[in-house]
Amino acid sequence: MARITASVFTSHVPAIGAAMDLGKTQEDYWKPLFAGYEYSREWMKDNKPDVIFLVFNDHATAFSLEMIPTFAIGTAAQYQPADEGWGPRPVPAVQGHPDLASHIAQSVIQQDFDLTIVNQMDVDHGLTVPLSLMCGQKDPVKDAWPCPVIPFAVNVVQYPVPSGQRCFNLGQAIRKAIESYDEDLNVHIWGTGGMSHQLQGPRAGLINKEWDNRFLDLMIEDPVAAAKIPHIEYVREAGSEGIELVMWLIARGAMSDVVDGKLQGPAPKLKHRFFHVPASNTAVGHLILENA
Ligand code: DHB
Ligand code: FE
Repeated sequence: MARITASVFTSHVPAIGAAMDLGKTQEDYWKPLFAGYEYSREWMKDNKPDVIFLVFNDHATAFSLEMIPTFAIGTAAQYQPADEGWGPRPVPAVQGHPDLASHIAQSVIQQDFDLTIVNQMDVDHGLTVPLSLMCGQKDPVKDAWPCPVIPFAVNVVQYPVPSGQRCFNLGQAIRKAIESYDEDLNVHIWGTGGMSHQLQGPRAGLINKEWDNRFLDLMIEDPVAAAKIPHIEYVREAGSEGIELVMWLIARGAMSDVVDGKLQGPAPKLKHRFFHVPASNTAVGHLILENA
C-alpha cells in the first residue's frame, strides 16, 4: 500500500530559480535564503520518496483565460519546463507517474471532488522552483529529479479561487486515494506558493511577517483552524498573491493526524521551519513535517 510519510511546504518565487540558474546563490542578497534550505536538501537525500505529489499553481503558463480548471491532476508520463518569457529554465524534464495519478483521479472524483485530468502540460516556476530548492541545481541533460512527480494544479490566479476549507477537505480525499493504491510507495505531498506578497496595485510589495508566522504556527499545530481562514483574510493580510497559501492546506489535510476534518491522530514531527524576507517581492516560508 502507498503511504504519505511527509509533507513539505515552500514558497516558489521565480527569482529564486533565476538565482540558481545564473549561479548567484552565494551573493549577499541570496545567501541567507539558500542557507535555509541546506537542511532540507540533506533531508531529501536521507528520506528519498518514491513519488512526490506536488500541489502548485500555474501562472497563466499552461492554462490561460480560455480555460481555468479549479483543480487539475497531471496524469502524463512527462512534463517539460515551461517558457515563461525568458526561455524554459535549464532544469530536467519532470517524470510523471501516470498509473498512480490515474488511480488518485478515479478515487478523488468518486469522493465527490471534481478534478480536471491533464495529459499534456508544461510546468512553470510554481513547480520547478520548489523542486530546485529541495533537490538542488540539476543539469537539464545529465541529471534527473530524484523521483516521479504528480503535478496537481490549483487555480489561485483567476477569481473565484477555492476556499482553504475545500483545499483541506481535498487533502483528506487525496490521502485516502493514495492509501488505496496497491503498491508499497513512499509518497511525499508538497504544498507550495505563498507566503505574503502582492505583485500589483497600490499595495504592491506588501509583506506581513506577523501574519505569515502565525500561519506557520497554525500549519504545525492547528490546521483545522487554518482551514477556517476566509478568503478575504488572505487577501487583506497576506496580499492578493498571498492567496496561494490555500494550496498548503491540501498537503496539510493529507497528513495522518487529520481524521474526518478533526485532529485525532498523533501530531506530525516538525523537522524544519524557516522564514525569510525578502526574496523578490515575497516572504518565503518553509516547513517539513513527518507523519508520526
Ligand atoms: C513573485 C512571486 C510569485 O509567487 C510569482 O508567481 C511571481 C513573482 C515575486 O515575488 O516576484
Ligand atoms: Fe506565484
